[in-house]
Amino acid sequence: MNISIVGAGHVGLVTGACFADLGNRVVMSDDDHAKIARLKRREMPFYEPGVEELLRRGMAKRRIRFTTSLAEAVEHGQLIFVCVGTPARPNGEADLSAVETVCRGIAKTMRSYRLIIEKSTVPVETGEWIKRTCRLTVRRGVPFDVASNPEFLREGQAVQDFLHPDRVVLGVESKRAKDLLLELYKPLQAPIIVTDVKSAELIKHASNSFLALKISFINAIAQICERVGADVAKVAEGMGLDKRIGRAFLDAGVGYGGYCLPKDVAAFIHIAEQLGYDFKLLKATAGVNEEQRRSFVKRVGEALWNLNNKTIGVLGLSFKPDTDDLREAPSIDIIRMLQQEGAKVRVFDPKAMAHADGLQGVTFCKDAYGVARGADCLAVVTEWNEFKELDFSRLKKLMRQPLIVDGRNIYDPEALRRLGFRYVGTGRSHGHD
Ligand code: UDX
Repeated sequence: MNISIVGAGHVGLVTGACFADLGNRVVMSDDDHAKIARLKRREMPFYEPGVEELLRRGMAKRRIRFTTSLAEAVEHGQLIFVCVGTPARPNGEADLSAVETVCRGIAKTMRSYRLIIEKSTVPVETGEWIKRTCRLTVRRGVPFDVASNPEFLREGQAVQDFLHPDRVVLGVESKRAKDLLLELYKPLQAPIIVTDVKSAELIKHASNSFLALKISFINAIAQICERVGADVAKVAEGMGLDKRIGRAFLDAGVGYGGYCLPKDVAAFIHIAEQLGYDFKLLKATAGVNEEQRRSFVKRVGEALWNLNNKTIGVLGLSFKPDTDDLREAPSIDIIRMLQQEGAKVRVFDPKAMAHADGLQGVTFCKDAYGVARGADCLAVVTEWNEFKELDFSRLKKLMRQPLIVDGRNIYDPEALRRLGFRYVGTGRSHGHD
């Protein structure tokens, strides 16, 4: 099928690359001329495993092309996926101005039936607004439909999540729209939920918010474990064996970050307020998440007596492994708080340092051993695999004090203690210091 993607960001690029690989003919537009020029030169604007290969294959088979012209995208595809950013405003509300501009542009340009599909994460009732906007702008007599097809892609696993989804959600208002989307998604052979637009929009917000709630729940349990000397990893294991609970997203640590969960929680709280409901559960979710960053810094300070003039080696900057994305990463707040307490900070991240120009006054190192050099403490903030198999005797020689504060519980406390380290986990008994 001919499809068009508007917005070549994390969602748009993965969606376009995967649809092209499934045999569709894809035109991708973005108003960022530099980004489109890079994509035409087959350069990826961000790190996401597998996308570069799919794009190269799609371009070699002439199944995907890039343009800065929205009109070209509207002309090409009967299905038009809106994948532009919906960043959070200071009050948490999702900023939909890019969605509105794009939909107005589509409506003004189209000359025959188009299915406008919101893929960006948008507040419930956005589909209504898109319809109203298009009705006011579209050429008389030109038919269109609006649909919601939310994405459930995790950064670092986005291609996998797209090609092997747990479910495809289609929010549609006509048989024509339903049939087009069913045909497009048929090759995935995944469970498909067909519902109305509003329910589809809510499935996305409710899913992301629940994932955030689950993470904050286990982090709250970690706070209890710390106070009684229990091990939250074992608690999570025991909880997760209950099929009704499930083990996934029960990893206690410095909390969630990224471009999605924090902003989706804030947006849902805002939407609920607009609808006259005080979403206390989500406010508590966000509160616990912020507390995790503060309590991590507090734990480093307590382990060192104080932070002034101490050197802290931070392992990991990205908000999670296998991505170079620093948006809302816990590391940014943690480093700022460490510096506010007078600590000197050394950092290493396998992928995200290229985007870390916003960090002031930190020493960028070339690997974990560089971070350990002269450090009073090694603080694990992102659980990159390469941090799991370090040469600890070499680390110990490099450090000023053999202290590890593990913000993602990636190490075995007893093993490190046998190697002569003091180990402080998250929600794990500190043992005898
Ligand atoms: C999330 C949703 O998973 C995805 O479905 C949605 O489409 C976009 O938002 P993403 O933000 O890419 O995906 O990453 P995810 O794997 O969900 O992790 C989000 C954050 O939660 C990361 O900072 C991660 O470190 C943290 N996390 C995750 C935990 O702290 N504990 C966990 O158990 C799981």
